[in-house]
Amino acid sequence: MIINPASRLQVVKEYYFSLKLKEIARMNVDGEAVINLGIGSPDLPPKSEVIETLCKESIATNVHAYQSYQGLPALREAFAEWYKREYEVNLNPNEEVLPLMGSKEGIMHISMSFLEKGDQVLVPNPGYPAYAATAKLAGAEIVYYDLLEANHWLIDLDELAKKDLSKIKVMWVNYPHMPTGTKASKAFLQELVEFGRQHKILICNDNPYSFVLNEFPLSILSIKGAKEVCLELNSLSKSHHMAGWRIGMIAGAKDYLQTILKFKSNMDSGMFKPLQLAAVKALGEDQVWREKTNQTYAERREVVYEILEKLDCTFSKNQAGLFVWARIPKTEKSGFEMSDQILKNCRVFICPGGIFGSNGDPYIRISLCNPINVFQKAKAKIANYVIKNTVHESRS
Ligand SMILES: Cc1ncc(COP(=O)(O)O)c(C=O)c1O
Repeated sequence: MIINPASRLQVVKEYYFSLKLKEIARMNVDGEAVINLGIGSPDLPPKSEVIETLCKESIATNVHAYQSYQGLPALREAFAEWYKREYEVNLNPNEEVLPLMGSKEGIMHISMSFLEKGDQVLVPNPGYPAYAATAKLAGAEIVYYDLLEANHWLIDLDELAKKDLSKIKVMWVNYPHMPTGTKASKAFLQELVEFGRQHKILICNDNPYSFVLNEFPLSILSIKGAKEVCLELNSLSKSHHMAGWRIGMIAGAKDYLQTILKFKSNMDSGMFKPLQLAAVKALGEDQVWREKTNQTYAERREVVYEILEKLDCTFSKNQAGLFVWARIPKTEKSGFEMSDQILKNCRVFICPGGIFGSNGDPYIRISLCNPINVFQKAKAKIANYVIKNTVHESRS
């Protein structure tokens, strides 16, 4: 390449899954297809009415123009009604809701809108890699905070308060937490809001998993006074099986959202109208559909537990979201090595916990996004490998 990339790109690497999927594609050319239990991309379709709406609306001739930077009023109203119905949060659809093309872009928008050189940002370890990557691209310094199994993967706010927080501007939180599946209580969210107010830190809760295997969905915006210091990202990717559609939102106070719009409106030119209308359909009452899909995930999860038991892993059965997070046995060096061994010997890909930060090193994560027969097939392959290995070890 004769043109050098911008130096700012030196602070980030190509996304782990982007690289891993290439490796898996190469393995697939050479032999039996790899079973991918890594990525949380729902394999099931959205509600049929949602797809029908997209098809019906796309046929019209007058829906193909650029759309508003703030989304259709109908979509903002649907998001506001959804927040009222599901989380008991009142949002003004004209000022406190900003539709996004997936919540991942919202992480970038928040970082670019509020962070710059000289700022620090609190990021969970382990946590979703985009929080740190976007903050680095914005020039900010990352301050990781520990999430530990010993503390039930919750933030030790007392410990954090002892640090110098004077340069911290933004804090990323994500409950239900990915990758550990930890749920937060309302009392804990209250403490977080108080922490943000006390230290003048913008608390950004990334909340895409609250409807998956979680009985009590919570929004940080349901806490009194939260809008002063909190933003919340939400998404239809996981909750409505629409990951490829790229539909999400930011909720929060008008001034914060206006600031973000200043950046975002320079990035995109609105979302395809039929997609927005289909999203409105998706956001309607869906209790029966949701219970059915959660039932499916719960059945798959039972087989995932069996896989993890075969691998001698330990795990909590009280996890929310699309994954099961598990501690590797003491005999294994790291989740990375264990994942590589399983990939090489069983042609099954399981995500190493270390990609989410050093505290995730002795863990692995299995996604629930495959039909149950795929999990059974993976279980058989892994059981076979474990048996062979045990026989081999006992002979040698
Ligand atoms: C914690 C977390 N936040 C955000 C996202 C991004 O979701 P989307 O951009 O599809 O809304 C993901 C996707 O895996 C995630 O796990």
